[in-house]
Amino acid sequence: MSVRVAALEAGLQPAALALSQSLNLPLTGDALFELQLTAAGLQLQELNSKAGAVRVDFTEGALAHRRQFGGGSGQMIAKAVGVQGSVRPHVLDATAGLGRDAFVLACLGCSIDMIERHPVVAALLADGLQRASQHGDTAAITAQMRLQQGDAITLMRQWQGEVPQVIYLDPMFPERSKSAQVKKEMRLFQPLVGGDDDAPLLLEAALALASHRVVVKRPRIAPAIAGVKPSYTLQGKSSRYDIYPKKTLTAG
Ligand SMILES: C[S@@+](CC[C@H](N)C(=O)[O-])C[C@H]1O[C@@H](n2cnc3c(N)ncnc32)[C@H](O)[C@@H]1O
Repeated sequence: MSVRVAALEAGLQPAALALSQSLNLPLTGDALFELQLTAAGLQLQELNSKAGAVRVDFTEGALAHRRQFGGGSGQMIAKAVGVQGSVRPHVLDATAGLGRDAFVLACLGCSIDMIERHPVVAALLADGLQRASQHGDTAAITAQMRLQQGDAITLMRQWQGEVPQVIYLDPMFPERSKSAQVKKEMRLFQPLVGGDDDAPLLLEAALALASHRVVVKRPRIAPAIAGVKPSYTLQGKSSRYDIYPKKTLTAG
């Protein structure tokens, strides 16, 4: 899926050149997507589409609203990863995407490691994290979020650091569609990142690594990931969380 890099302001040309070299993407030629450097941050635009550009913004809009009014530990995602009382697990989000779920968990006080394998998606997320780290409202939250670009299956199989208590997975559902309530941004990304058909291997590696539980987010009516069956599920309006417990989470 072709992507080119462009600076939308003259002063950002050197940064565009550096980014095109580091991601090994062209600055010219036909493409389906354009990764644009703007004064407001890095954004991805689908060319020949009426859809707006996608940028990671933790400081404004939907995520800022969720940070302020999101419902704290009563949220379904909080229950799914085991946030309750003073329990704040160390979570590995192995399918970080645009980092929205990870940000919600970091807002709740969890320490989050993130892995994203698509270099363009990882670049957008890294840019959003960097901007949020310089903003008074979000600096302390993003300080708890660490991003690695790479394939989580490989990285989890050869994990070095502190073992995550909870591993959170939200792979693209192969046939995700409007009816599956896919967030607009990730729908845009589907042609870019594909259907994540190797999700069973991701689940297998996560179950081998997590010390306490694995949580898989699925569209509400989608089947569970092939392999080990979840012990129970939490049902939300458009999503469902399949829970694979290993050990009870406790505070401290
Ligand atoms: C549905 S999106 C995740 C959205 C994310 N939960 C959010 O809140 O923004 C799935 C992402 O997982 C990534 N992914 C899928 N398999 C992966 C793997 N094995 N390693 C790392 N990232 C993976 C895809 O590239 C895609 O960006």
